[in-house]
Amino acid sequence: MKKYFALILIGVIMMGLFTPNKAAAAPGAETLVLPAPERQGGMPLMEALDKRMSSRSFTQEELPEQVLSNLLWAAWGYNRADQKKRTAPSSMNKQELSVYAALKSGLYLYDAEAHALQLVSGEDIRSKTGSQPFVNSAPLNLIFVADSKKQNSLTSSYANAGFISQNVYLFCASEGLGTVVRGWFNEKSLHQAMGLGKDRKIILCQTVGYPK
Ligand SMILES: Cc1cc2nc3c(=O)[nH]c(=O)nc-3n(C[C@H](O)[C@H](O)[C@H](O)COP(=O)(O)O)c2cc1C
Repeated sequence: MKKYFALILIGVIMMGLFTPNKAAAAPGAETLVLPAPERQGGMPLMEALDKRMSSRSFTQEELPEQVLSNLLWAAWGYNRADQKKRTAPSSMNKQELSVYAALKSGLYLYDAEAHALQLVSGEDIRSKTGSQPFVNSAPLNLIFVADSKKQNSLTSSYANAGFISQNVYLFCASEGLGTVVRGWFNEKSLHQAMGLGKDRKIILCQTVGYPK
């Protein structure tokens, strides 16, 4: 009996040692398939440019799924799916950036191929995405993360993230949403909260919500 108990105990300890961290284990575990993005309509481009601005005051109202779908597609979705090419350019088409969505219900990774959000963690990490108080309660904080194995030039990753961010700005202007791109966050604590590996670098965050 004692022998079996010891074996079970060793098994439990080994499982603890070899269980991958949350971020590595969770993608794919739970998927929020988004409705197809509405790829037509919206505000005329010149009007959206006229309205583009940064906002820092948001209501807590959550974004409807269709709005989230359109927003993520506009940000970094495939607009030429047959070639796996996207709404934003990237240096040498390396596509090293991942877009994460920190929502009240948890942290998700945007999967452009499936046009879905893959659950990374059920924890609400919005407060870790920045040092300004509105990040805690705004419904969505996007996090742009570079994979240094795909792109070793940080300059390129900052430029590439800028294009994604501007897509979000223009979409928000068109939809009457508020947004602000942010470089002011604690990289170390956010990196840890997201469970990212050493080869991942957080480039920018961007808050989205209905303006107050
Ligand atoms: C790379 C970058 C980082 C920024 N970081 C922050 C930030 O951490 N917090 C913030 O409130 N605004 C941030 N902003 C927004 C700028 O303050 C804003 O774009 C600027 O004041 C001009 O205002 P506008 O966007 O309304 O034209 C950032 C903008 C850029 C391009």
